[in-house]
Amino acid sequence: MELINKTIVFVKEKLNDAEGGHDWFHIERVYKNALLIAKDTNCDETVVQLGALLHDIADSKFHNGDETIGPKTARVFLEAENVSEEIIAHVVNIIENISYKGGNFERKFSSVELDIVQDADRLDAIGAIGVARAFNYGGFKNRALYNPEIAPVTNMTKEEYKKNNAPTINHFYEKLLLLKDKMNTEKGKEIAAERHRFMESFLAQFYAEWEGVK
Ligand code: ADP
Ligand code: NI
Repeated sequence: MELINKTIVFVKEKLNDAEGGHDWFHIERVYKNALLIAKDTNCDETVVQLGALLHDIADSKFHNGDETIGPKTARVFLEAENVSEEIIAHVVNIIENISYKGGNFERKFSSVELDIVQDADRLDAIGAIGVARAFNYGGFKNRALYNPEIAPVTNMTKEEYKKNNAPTINHFYEKLLLLKDKMNTEKGKEIAAERHRFMESFLAQFYAEWEGVK
C-alpha cells in the first residue's frame, strides 16, 4: 500500500502540467477502471495498480515521439523504491505495449495484467468521458468539430489527411467506435458495450442538431 501511495504522489507531481486528456484525473479514472476489472479477474493486483498509475507517465506524443522516456521514467522510480525486477519488468512491458497505435500495433508481450490495464485505458476513451476527451484533444490541435465535406476514413494519404486537419467527429469512426470490439476482458466488454451505446446516441443527436431538425 505504501508503494502505491508513493506512486500516486510521484505520478501527480509528474503530470502537474499535462494536457487535459492526459492529466492526473485520466490516470485516476484508469486506475479505478482497472481495479473494477481486476476484482473480477485472477491477477496480480500490485502489477495492475502500478501499470495503471504509470501507463502515461511520459506520453511520446508530448516528448517528440520518444517512446522510451515513459518506460525509463517508470523503471528509475520503481528501482529507487526497491521493487523487485520481476515486477518492474512486467510494469515496463505494460507501458510499452498498452497503446492502440492505429490498431496495427502487434503486442510483443501479453499478460492478464496488461489486458486489464489496456481495457481500463480504452474505457476512458469511450462513453461520455471519451466524447469530452476527444473534443478536448481536437481543441488542443485546433480542429473543427465536424465538417461534412471531410469524410472519415478517406482515400487521402496520411499526410494529406493530416494537412486537412481532420475534424474531431472523424476520430469516432477511426478509433472510438472500434474500441468495444477490442476489449480483452469480460468485464471490460460489458462496460464498453454501454459506453458504446452512449456514443452512438450522442452522434445521432449531434447530426440531428447539425441539420437543425431537433
Ligand atoms: P492512447 O492513450 O490509447 O494512446 P491517445 O493518447 O491517442 O490514446 O488519446 C488520448 C485521448 O485523446 C483519447 O481520448 C483519444 O480519443 C483522444 N484523441 C487522440 N487522437 C485524437 C484525434 N485525432 N481527435 C480527437 N481525439 C483524439
Ligand atoms: Ni492513458
